[in-house]
Amino acid sequence: MAALIAPSILSADFANLERDLGRIASADYAHVDVMDNHFVPNLTLGLPIFERLAKVSPIPLDAHLMIENPDRWAPEFAEAGAASVTFHAEAAQAPVRLARELRKLGSRAGVALRPATPVEPYLDLLAEIDMILVMTVEPGFGGQSFIEGTLPKIRRARQAVSESGLDVWIQVDGGVSRDTIERAADAGANVFVAGSAVYGAEDIPSEIATLRELAAKHTH
Ligand code: DX5
Ligand code: ZN
Repeated sequence: MAALIAPSILSADFANLERDLGRIASADYAHVDVMDNHFVPNLTLGLPIFERLAKVSPIPLDAHLMIENPDRWAPEFAEAGAASVTFHAEAAQAPVRLARELRKLGSRAGVALRPATPVEPYLDLLAEIDMILVMTVEPGFGGQSFIEGTLPKIRRARQAVSESGLDVWIQVDGGVSRDTIERAADAGANVFVAGSAVYGAEDIPSEIATLRELAAKHTH
């Protein structure tokens, strides 16, 4: 399985988002963190900005919705042109109905889990989704350190996906860097979000290439 790199523009310059999307053009996806100051104690950007980002981005957008009531809002991000829309399990009222709606709109559908949310309730629903996002920090802010205790959950998710024979991706987000990406890949992740590690690098394209190489060595 290929290792996919999705830099998070949370660490970009918000006054220069088009320029900073251009800087990650060699990545697989641009990860866009949408926060509503309710589901998480931080506020980023909403639909009008997302629509513009979708128009100017050189690579597909991966929306990570850290918002209340995703059942109401997530489909609008698919309509705005997101290649993938991930909503939080803790916030969704009807995750299967929502995932079906997203897929119908032509987007991939992802379910995100906070570090303390178990993956088991979702393992029977793998056929309904395209990706599980295992948060490796508490959502809300960039620059936090990777929670090693999430590795067993990644392993259990990968095991269940393998047994199902389905092509469900496993994404990790939070504290992913040269120091942690190999362990996450080894545990079974195949999509890697990195904010501060990518935008904090001197040479962004070479950092993306390094992360991809390190992950690919361990992706099964
Ligand atoms: C945090 C966001 C992440 C964040 C990761 O809630 O979901 O996408 O940008 O930032 P780093 O890679 O700096 O931990
Ligand atoms: Zn994110």
